[in-house]
Amino acid sequence: MAILVTGGAGYIGSHTCVELLNRGDEVIIIDNLVNSKVEAVRRVEKITGKKVKFYENDLLDRAAVEKIFEENKIDVVIHFAGLKAVGESVSIPLRYYHNNITSTLILCEVMAKYGCKKIVFSSSATVYGMSNKAPFSEDMPVGGTTNPYGTTKLMIEQILRDLYISDNEWSIVLLRYFNPIGAHPCGLIGEDPNGIPNNLLPYVARVAAGKLPIVHVFGNDYDTPDGTGVRDYIHVCDLADGHLKAVDKAMSCTGVNTYNLGTGNGYSVLDVIKAFSKACGKDVPYQIDPRRPGDIGTCYADASKAKRELGWEAKYNLDDMCAHSWNFTKNNPNGL
Ligand code: NAD
Ligand code: WQD
Repeated sequence: MAILVTGGAGYIGSHTCVELLNRGDEVIIIDNLVNSKVEAVRRVEKITGKKVKFYENDLLDRAAVEKIFEENKIDVVIHFAGLKAVGESVSIPLRYYHNNITSTLILCEVMAKYGCKKIVFSSSATVYGMSNKAPFSEDMPVGGTTNPYGTTKLMIEQILRDLYISDNEWSIVLLRYFNPIGAHPCGLIGEDPNGIPNNLLPYVARVAAGKLPIVHVFGNDYDTPDGTGVRDYIHVCDLADGHLKAVDKAMSCTGVNTYNLGTGNGYSVLDVIKAFSKACGKDVPYQIDPRRPGDIGTCYADASKAKRELGWEAKYNLDDMCAHSWNFTKNNPNGL
C-alpha cells in the first residue's frame, strides 16, 4: 500500500513512518521542515533499512501537492502536517488558520482530483474543550477550544465531516490524540522541539540534561490527587501503531470514524517528574508556579472505542515513556 504521510519528518509522523515501513507499506512524505529536520527522515530509513520518498514541499503549494499525486499512486493519506504550538497560535492566529486549514483544503481537493478519498487526520483531545468531564469519550459534544490551534482542529474535523456528507465515497478517520511523549526505544528519533519547549515532557528532559535550570509546575491547586494537572500520556510508538489500525479502518469502509488515542490513565505533573527522575537516575528539580491560562485540571481518555473497533490499545507505561525519552535526550544532546 502507498501511503502519503504529510508532516512525516515531525515527531509523531517519523515514528509512524517507522511502523508503516516495518510492516511493508510504501511511504511518501511531504514536509516543509518548518518544525523538523531532514535528519529525522534519514534516521527512519536507518532504523527500518528501507527507503522513503521525501518531498520537501509546503502543503500550501498546490502545484507541488499535485505533482506528488501525479508521480505516485497514493492509496491513503495520513495528515499530520500542521503548526501545533498553543501559545504561538494565540500570537499569530492567521498563520495558524492559514497553514492548518488552507493546507487541508488543498490536500483534500487534490486527493479528490486524483481519486484518493481515504484520509486519517491528526486531531487532538483539545477539541473536548473546557466543559466536558474526563474521561472524554468520542460521543461528547466538542467545542469551546481555548486557542486558535485547538480551533483549527475543531474546524478541520467539521470540514472533513462536511466533505463526507457531500461525497459518501470518502473514508475519514479522525484521531484525537491525548498527550504523546516518549521516543523510539532505539534512541534515534524522538521529540526535538525548537527553542524552549512548551510541553511538559521535553521541558523536563531539558532540565534533566542540565540545559534548563528547573521545571515550572503550572499550579498545584487543581481538584486532583496532588493538586497538579492530570493528563493521559501516551507513548509515541503506541500512537504510531494506532495509525496503522486507523489506515486499515480507512481502507476497509467509507464514512467518518472518530477515535481517541490515549491510555485511559491520568498522571499528574508530579508523577511525571518522579518517573523521569527515576529514568535519568537523579532528582529533576521543580518549583510550583501559578496556573497556565487555558489549562484544565484533568484530561484523560475513554479509550474503549479504539480497543473495541480497531483492536488497538496502548502497551507502554509511564516508566517506559520516560526511559525512552531520556534515552533519546541522552543520545542526542544537540537534538537531531
Ligand atoms: P511536529 O511539528 O513534530 O510535526 C508536524 C510536521 O508538519 C512538521 O515536520 C512540520 O515541518 C510539518 N508541517 C507543518 N506545516 C506544514 C506545511 N504547511 N506543509 C508541509 N509540512 C508542514 O508535530 P507532531 O507532534 O508530530 O504533531 C503531528 C500532528 O499531530 C499535528 O497536526 C499536531 O497538531 C497533532 N497533534 C499533536 C499532539 C502533540 O502533543 N504532539 C497532540 C495532538 C495532536
Ligand atoms: C501537560 C501538563 C501543564 C509544561 C498540549 C496541547 C494539546 C496537545 C498536547 C496538540 C499540564 C503542565 C506543562 C510545563 C507544567 N497538543 N506543565 N509545566 O497542555 O495537556 O496539551 O499538548 O494537540 O492540544 O494543549 O500538554 O505538555 O503542555 O502540559 O506544569 O513547563 O503539564 O499545566 O497540566 P497539554 P503540556
